[in-house]
Amino acid sequence: MLQNKHTVFDCAIIDLHKIHNDAGNITVVENGFNAPFGVKRIYYLYDVPGGEERGGHAHYQLEQLIIAASGSFDVVLDDGTNKKKVSLNRPNMALHIVPGLWREIVNFSSGSICLVLASHRYDEKDYIRTYDKFLKYRT
Ligand code: TYD
Repeated sequence: MLQNKHTVFDCAIIDLHKIHNDAGNITVVENGFNAPFGVKRIYYLYDVPGGEERGGHAHYQLEQLIIAASGSFDVVLDDGTNKKKVSLNRPNMALHIVPGLWREIVNFSSGSICLVLASHRYDEKDYIRTYDKFLKYRT
């Protein structure tokens, strides 16, 4: 499928298994098991000041899994036609973002950690940084 034909409805929540233990839980994301793509890069957002927003871009190729490793935030997805807001607030819940969608991450709770698993290494050329350019890409 052409990357610019993906819609917000292609982005699913993946219920990651929780290995429960009274001494603390473990959740695993593993290539070839429950990751929907091969994970090549991991990064995390933290110390986000109250009221701050992140994202505000799209990617041509990159797929991501976004997890609220701690606290909560909302991911607003936009395919140029439809918008969808997904609230993440459990470390065993991952949002799979397919390529070609505009995304904003908002409403970070204090001390939250946004863990991102990505399908490719960092490449600034894969970013669409302006909304105008994104809308042109989608048409
Ligand atoms: P960006 O992806 O725009 O952040 P966000 O979507 O969270 O608002 O990245 C912010 C800056 O960090 C940008 O200058 C590029 C740099 N960066 C890297 O060098 N490597 C990475 O893997 C990422 C995600 C960002």
